[in-house]
Amino acid sequence: MTSKKSIDDLVKQAEELRREIDEHNYRYYVLEEPSISDAEFDRLFRNLQTLEEAHPELLTPDSPTQRVGAAVIGAFAPVNHYVPMLSLNNAFSEEEVQAFDQRIHQRLGIEGPLEYCCETKLDGVAVSIVYEEGLLIRAATRGDGRTGEEITHNIRTIPSVPLKLRGKNIPKLLEIRGEVYLGKAEFAALNERSLERGEKIFVNPRNAASGSLRQLDPTITASRNLKIYCFSLGAVSDDFDMPERHSDFLLKMKEWGLRVSPLADVVKGVEGCLAYYNKLQKIRGELPYEIDGVVYKVNNRNYQQDLGFVSRAPRWAVAHKFPASEELTLVQDIDFQVGRTGTLTPTARLKPVFVGGATVSNATLHNLDETWRKDIRVGDTVIVRRAGDVIPEVVGAVIEKRPKGTHPVSLPKTCPVCGSEVIKPEGEAYAKCTGGLYCHAQLKSSFLHFASRRAMDIEGLGERMVDLLLETNLISDISDLYCLTEAKIAELPRMGEKSAENLINAIAHSKDTTLARFLYSLGIPNVGEATALNLAMHFKSLEPIMNADEETLQSVPDIGPIVAAQIVAFFRQPCNQEIIQKLRDLGVHWQDIVTEENQPLTDQTFVLTGTLQSLTRDEARERLQALGAKVTNSVSAKTSYVVAGVDPGSKLEKAEKLNVPILDEEAFLKLLDSVS
Ligand code: IVH
Repeated sequence: MTSKKSIDDLVKQAEELRREIDEHNYRYYVLEEPSISDAEFDRLFRNLQTLEEAHPELLTPDSPTQRVGAAVIGAFAPVNHYVPMLSLNNAFSEEEVQAFDQRIHQRLGIEGPLEYCCETKLDGVAVSIVYEEGLLIRAATRGDGRTGEEITHNIRTIPSVPLKLRGKNIPKLLEIRGEVYLGKAEFAALNERSLERGEKIFVNPRNAASGSLRQLDPTITASRNLKIYCFSLGAVSDDFDMPERHSDFLLKMKEWGLRVSPLADVVKGVEGCLAYYNKLQKIRGELPYEIDGVVYKVNNRNYQQDLGFVSRAPRWAVAHKFPASEELTLVQDIDFQVGRTGTLTPTARLKPVFVGGATVSNATLHNLDETWRKDIRVGDTVIVRRAGDVIPEVVGAVIEKRPKGTHPVSLPKTCPVCGSEVIKPEGEAYAKCTGGLYCHAQLKSSFLHFASRRAMDIEGLGERMVDLLLETNLISDISDLYCLTEAKIAELPRMGEKSAENLINAIAHSKDTTLARFLYSLGIPNVGEATALNLAMHFKSLEPIMNADEETLQSVPDIGPIVAAQIVAFFRQPCNQEIIQKLRDLGVHWQDIVTEENQPLTDQTFVLTGTLQSLTRDEARERLQALGAKVTNSVSAKTSYVVAGVDPGSKLEKAEKLNVPILDEEAFLKLLDSVS
């Protein structure tokens, strides 16, 4: 009975629970290597909560139960930083980085390559966190560099921020600095939730992180899934023996349980810095958070001290920025593209602008509801974003710059391609052309989809060719492709014999396909690659799929009532049945899926990264799937193998961290051979 236990025992019990919970929090949020299940963790957490509720005298401010809910004091009060929070000078080109390095050499009067610590430049909010005797006592924003705002109540809710430091040699007073940020997925989820609730949408993860820290109610901040990476020292008491190298200080922070980016790296000279920049630029898109560049810091602290500061930035560091990923430009027009299923997509025609390393002149506005919600109009100045290799996006309009006399976009009454009526069903974001395959745009896209790389993979059947074949009436449905001859194609304008031969070969080659690809290529509404694969895996051959009723279809993973109804409707159409029959008569074929016993990799999960030499990633994926394996995009402790080709991304590092077995190409091919 707890009531009989002495208070000392209870204190010990609470301490032990806190120690365990802190340890698991650290493993989960900082090391990202959890060692117990979520359920076990919840159990420990609930035990501590129960104990503290029964004995409030046991509560301590650093208890993991007190992240949210501790009394909010001093929210947003001004905080004078012990040491100013500086900013960084920027470099936008290799030349500017070279000049930075040269200036340093001159000032220090030394020769030979310098050691730099390279880090990612996170796009978040700079914060200062103060620990006294290892306990988090205060956190603040950067503000103007001298004075920031107190945000302790909100910083405490971030699980990767320790309330209490771990390890040895913890200075009496320690102020660390870092960047609080919101991951890309968390940002998207937040905006999705806001959209559902009719709340404000954030234009980018940085604004969202900043808004999340400016909340009076810490439960709101807690719900945002913020994270932190720590990267430098602010003030410190003189009982601390500062390591000589900045990179060693990063390690020290890690020992104290602070979250430090695993991407930091020590390099030699400008060359090392630029190699780091190129590496990061390549993997930038794959990172789960936004970075807008990298930072080079002279690694030697003595050198840093000698170099000092100019105005508000250190001479010993520079941020090498990636090409700007957001720019302003003008919306010259908004027109509508008609997709394969008749969906009208509003597209902004922009005054060309260089953004994120490419010139952008068109950007999709996704759908009418979104265009209305963002209120984007012809004549508006808009923010255009292009991050990494992703499709350019119109973030929003700059309302202050809106000229007089603009109008919200209106729904066209008729299809801009075929003139058929346009409908927008109540409650749906999309407007649709009702023209069906009468609409040239829909017909054309269905051919392009059929021929696309992940469908039937017919090389050379691009837009121009499909236009030409449609205009000359050589094709009217997909089965007609397999009736084409070299002679017919060679007669077309601007078509040589060689290209005719190539196209016919590609078409012939495509006849040998897989059931999943074939299903996907048919363009059944809402049947994407994953659903097609699930259908193929479940039914093993085409006939049962064509004959399945809605109920049977719903036993397939990820197929709900709506998609099931669409599949049934598609196969019930006599013209679709006819086309499928024709395709098969003309030689389109596949091997029915092997049965479970022949799927030795069932239950195994693979992640592919980097470039393989002897097969494409798609081919590798298909071979694995045919053997029953699952292929996913992100590495977790549950991943069975990571297959790493040339130039692997951050997934390899993650695999190493999580001790997931890594196969190089040779080992991978051996594995395939051994089980095939
Ligand atoms: S070092 C004196 N390292 O960028 C050193 N800053 O433009 C100053 N930032 O206010 C900071 N990632 O919020 C440093 N790895 C990194 C960083 C980084 C992002 C932010 C930081 C700073 C701003 C300067």
